[in-house]
Amino acid sequence: MDAFKEQEYDKRFDISLWKKLLQFCKPYKNKLVILGLFMIGLAGVDVIFPLMSKYAVDHFIIPQSTDGILIFGIIYFLLIAVQAVNIFFFIDIAGKIEMYLTYDIRKKGFQHLQELSFNYYDKTPVGWLMARMTSDSQRLGSFISWGIVDMVWGFSYMILISIAMLFLNWKLALITLTVVPVLVVLSMYFQKKILKVYRKVRKTNSKITGSFNEGIAGAKTTKTLVREEENLKEFQVDTSVMYRSSVKAAIFSSLYLPAVLTLGSIGTGLALWFGGEGVIMQAITYGTLVAFISYTVQFFEPLRELARVFAEFQSAQASAERIFSMIDEKPQIQDHSEVVKEFGDILQSKEENWPEIKGDISFDDVTFGYKDGEKVLENFNLDIKAGETIALVGETGSGKSTVVNLACRFYEPNSGKIKIDGVDYRRRSMLWLQSNLGYVLQTPHLFSGTIKENIAYGRLDATGEEITRAAKLVNAHKFIMKLKKGYDSEVGEGGARLSTGEKQLISFARAILANPKIFVLDEATSSVDTETEQLIQQAIHKVLENRTSFIIAHRLSTIRSADRILVVRNGKITEQGNHHQLLKEKGYYYRLYTNQFMEEQEAMLLNA
Ligand SMILES: Nc1ncnc2c1ncn2[C@@H]1O[C@H](COP(=O)(O)OP(=O)(O)OP(=O)(O)O)[C@@H](O)[C@H]1O
Ligand SMILES: [Mg+2]
Repeated sequence: MDAFKEQEYDKRFDISLWKKLLQFCKPYKNKLVILGLFMIGLAGVDVIFPLMSKYAVDHFIIPQSTDGILIFGIIYFLLIAVQAVNIFFFIDIAGKIEMYLTYDIRKKGFQHLQELSFNYYDKTPVGWLMARMTSDSQRLGSFISWGIVDMVWGFSYMILISIAMLFLNWKLALITLTVVPVLVVLSMYFQKKILKVYRKVRKTNSKITGSFNEGIAGAKTTKTLVREEENLKEFQVDTSVMYRSSVKAAIFSSLYLPAVLTLGSIGTGLALWFGGEGVIMQAITYGTLVAFISYTVQFFEPLRELARVFAEFQSAQASAERIFSMIDEKPQIQDHSEVVKEFGDILQSKEENWPEIKGDISFDDVTFGYKDGEKVLENFNLDIKAGETIALVGETGSGKSTVVNLACRFYEPNSGKIKIDGVDYRRRSMLWLQSNLGYVLQTPHLFSGTIKENIAYGRLDATGEEITRAAKLVNAHKFIMKLKKGYDSEVGEGGARLSTGEKQLISFARAILANPKIFVLDEATSSVDTETEQLIQQAIHKVLENRTSFIIAHRLSTIRSADRILVVRNGKITEQGNHHQLLKEKGYYYRLYTNQFMEEQEAMLLNA
């Protein structure tokens, strides 16, 4: 978490950002315009009601007559009906726009996440990505749709009320509207204050979400290390900052409304004072005064909504900024445009142009580091023939996984070349290489779903029979059949309902089914019992047949039978050869082997 610094988003208004958002709104342009029109209509009808009151006072109440009251009643009823229809439609349209926009933003984000390279995931916490995909997308969708609702309605309502007042009696209108400039100044002052505290609230909130994420993901570790109390303390510091800022924000918000209401009362007072005089001097009708009073009261009504929109504006902008920082991130590893032209990309692969892969791999003078300036591999050279099984051994952090990551093109060399079948792999499409690749990790990842689905993940069009055959080949069939629902058993999130060994067997079945030309096994044999290990051992043998493979294992039994064993130290190959050759060299491998061999013998004796 530490390495990842949350960017500060403090711009007041960022036009370029909203322009980008406009792209998302484009498909719903018509809907948005219609929504705006409905809101203007709603405000328009709202403004008519005080005029109706005026008419009622001047024509029915004061003269104490009922002439034409029926038509008046009908018109009144119709207005209410129109308003009801307006409300139905605007809620319907705004709700839909909110859904569509959120959906589109999430889809775009998810699609982009599929394309981003490993290095992006190295530096970006999962919690951060989750927040972008969930709450931020949601916030943007709802801000745009409901923000338009409130803004268009609020402004058109205030403007229409002003017009109606000027139309009724411009002198009285000008007198009552003198409070507006004061209102503007007051609003600006409070908005500035409120935005400032809200910004702090948001920043703290994102920190707290981070702690949540770490706290929950690391709950087991926390418990085993008895770190609960410290974690709680750290958490309390953040939450109390959050608490204080939130209270401050609430105080400012709660001061603002009464201030606005007071102004409203002053406006109403002015209307009564001058209007009352006008009525007495018979310059103004009673009804006009009544209409004026309701206008001054209503004039301030939209402010609450507008204030909310302004408060949300900043956080919506921050959401947009974060989402775009993700969407605009260029994948570090990308196919050249010429390569895409010839071999296609993820969205449209031109498989017919793909050359058959044999499986020769060579590293030519490869230098690589994960971070600038750091070199994990330096002038690394290695030639592997198709079908060869290469085992990598060496201390932790020596660069074994790095060699494999480069071969799979999860990362690319900083200098030098990696060739597959004699051609720089950057001149072929990524998809071409990766569809010919099988990768089994130490803790293989299974997806929520059934065992069958997880095996078929390697080749979606596989038949049930093929799936069973693959499972049998790697000795997974037996344990699967012991499960209640067999192949249809759910594996749980990340395969949590299976043991590590079982997960590995499933991922071997997956690899066999996909039938890759190049196969990678990263430390797959550690941490399982001897019986499972034997099953896995046999599975590995099956998987390795006719493929170029990399095996990284700490257990020597796994690597003994490899065609070639490489000892990697500080990113360099220090010894290579087969098991017997390396034993004769009496180097690192010899020591490693004799140590482990002795340990294994001891263990066997103890067991016996
Ligand atoms: N994603 C990464 N970002 C930054 N540095 C990394 C990353 N992965 C590995 N490294 C660094 O590169 C070096 C080589 O790591 P590598 O994973 O290749 O070691 P390894 O030989 O596979 O070790 P192990 O046996 O523990 O799996 C280490 O110093 C490690 O800290
Ligand atoms: Mg490793």
